Amino acid sequence: MLNANSDSAEKHKIQQQQDCGQDETDARYERMEKLGEGTYGIVYKSRDRETGEIVALKKIRLEHADEGIPSTAIREIALLQELRHQNIVHLKDIVHGENKLYLIFEYFNLDLKKYLDQNGGPLTTPTVKSMLYQLLQGLVHCHKRRIMHRDLKPSNLLIDSKGQHLKIADFGLARTFGLPLKSYTHEVVTLWYRAPEILLGQKVYSTAVDMWSVGCIFYEMAHKRPLFYGDSEIGQIFKIFKIMGTPSDETWQGIGELPEFKFTFPHWKVDAYQNLTKLSQNMDETAIDLLSKMVQLEPSKRISAKEALNHPYFNDYRHQSNFNYHQQSSDHCVDLI
Ligand SMILES: Nc1ncnc2c1ncn2[C@@H]1O[C@H](COP(=O)(O)OP(=O)(O)OP(=O)(O)O)[C@@H](O)[C@H]1O
Ligand SMILES: [Mg+2]
Repeated sequence: MLNANSDSAEKHKIQQQQDCGQDETDARYERMEKLGEGTYGIVYKSRDRETGEIVALKKIRLEHADEGIPSTAIREIALLQELRHQNIVHLKDIVHGENKLYLIFEYFNLDLKKYLDQNGGPLTTPTVKSMLYQLLQGLVHCHKRRIMHRDLKPSNLLIDSKGQHLKIADFGLARTFGLPLKSYTHEVVTLWYRAPEILLGQKVYSTAVDMWSVGCIFYEMAHKRPLFYGDSEIGQIFKIFKIMGTPSDETWQGIGELPEFKFTFPHWKVDAYQNLTKLSQNMDETAIDLLSKMVQLEPSKRISAKEALNHPYFNDYRHQSNFNYHQQSSDHCVDLI
């Protein structure tokens, strides 16, 4: 096993294993079954031979593998090992060879995409509330540390088979490995949860990108259908603008400077709140109010995770679980992570 601070003796051992045609992880992790494929590679359910623990082993395929793994990538990923929270899938170990990288995560049964597919209909209001609350708690923990996810979507939210406990997976990976439009197997990556500022090519963005995705996931849990579903970047941008209105310099200062924004885009002039209300049959007024604050087009107007936890939507939930949440400062952190 090799971690970020590996010494040369370990490197030599791994090179020997590779020469024998073995995988660098075989010595420690016994592969059991393939769990799925994502943007960056394949995930296997595995057993840690040392501890007997079940883990998820994510094999990352790097685009320029022959150039070796950049040390910055290893350092960035190593930082994510420090993230410890009950609503975040823990990155337990990093194993790297000459040109491959393996991330060993805590194993968690099911993802929200599969759970929604299996579930006969939309999730019940108490389940939606509990899932959303846990998602926000995990986010507050990371946003406080200036770490953003950038690629929140149902397949990156893992849940237990009873649908009671939620953990966020793949935190921070998008910063290190990029946000591609196609996966390593050239499959199109979903854009349904991507914030408008990312779609419009903004280079430096804030933790607000995650809150946009949270709004989309919130809606999808309650309705079992996505809120904005485009099949290309421009298609996704137009789906959003049709419902939320095309932004202008008055509603979104500096919009004209974003690389992908064109003043020739169709001008949809709409009442965004009314549109959201029409689309949200399974949500009451308080839920729609929270949703509308999450999907504000301009990032600085979007509600933060901390503020969202204090929204009246959770009043009964907080009361029930006797949870005392103390509001802290609510600004979005701007950072590249
Ligand atoms: N820690 C984990 N425990 C259990 N299953 C996992 C874990 N991490 C991922 N999986 C499963 O493996 C599958 C593939 O995950 P992966 O993260 O590679 O793809 P993805 O989430 O669809 O897309 P992305 O690569 O953009 O995150 C997912 O469907 C998920 O259910
Ligand atoms: Mg994932």
